[in-house]
Amino acid sequence: MEDVRVCPDAHALARAAAAFIAEESAVVIASRGRFSMALSGGSTPRGTYAALASGDPARRVRWDRVHVFWGDERCVPKDHPQSNFSMASETLLSIVPIPKGNVHPMRTDLPPEEAAAGYADELKRILHVTGDGLPRFDLVLLGIGVDGHTASLFPDEDLAGHAGRVVVATKGVKHGHRRLTITLPVINNAACVTFLVSGEEKAPVLSRVLGGRPPQPPAGLVRPRDGRLVWFAERLAIQP
Ligand code: 6PG
Repeated sequence: MEDVRVCPDAHALARAAAAFIAEESAVVIASRGRFSMALSGGSTPRGTYAALASGDPARRVRWDRVHVFWGDERCVPKDHPQSNFSMASETLLSIVPIPKGNVHPMRTDLPPEEAAAGYADELKRILHVTGDGLPRFDLVLLGIGVDGHTASLFPDEDLAGHAGRVVVATKGVKHGHRRLTITLPVINNAACVTFLVSGEEKAPVLSRVLGGRPPQPPAGLVRPRDGRLVWFAERLAIQP
């Protein structure tokens, strides 16, 4: 049974997701001393990051024990308006007292394939690696595109070709830029995966994914092997 938490509006979604992330971090840090989180890009998470940077959630998180990564990135400079690093820095990381060494951006100053290989090595060096050689995040935050992409796993990508891979560069330009993304096996190796979905335009794809109707887009293939899958959906994105 999917854990789908319907929120009355985008503001309520941001607050609920931020409280969830803060609680997750507290439980994991209490048990293992550290919390690793992969951030999503796009526009939906902005509200959640802002909510996480203020009030109770911000006070609840032991930022010195949190390590932040990215689930995907556009191949642009870190100060580019399309940069996922730039968005998270503006809304969260420049506000909370997270040590600089705990923030692990993808190296978009390198050629995409080299950046992907380097990030894969960094993930395997820093995170717990499970028996199949894949790094395991405590939490992966994801969004969903109207075409059902998630992170930068787009419907026309050869996902089967990602088997055994940790981070890949998309073959072509997506929405204006080449992309770097963690792969589906890494997402499905996480202890917890949380989707943030808002906007009426997402209702058809969300209905397809939650309904399990074939063909499933990449977002519908997110099935954590032994982790939890939690959806935070604005009511407008839930089809009647
Ligand atoms: C990105 C994201 C991408 C995003 C979806 C939804 O880098 O763009 O990782 O997967 O989550 O495109 O984007 P919105 O939140 O802007 O609708």
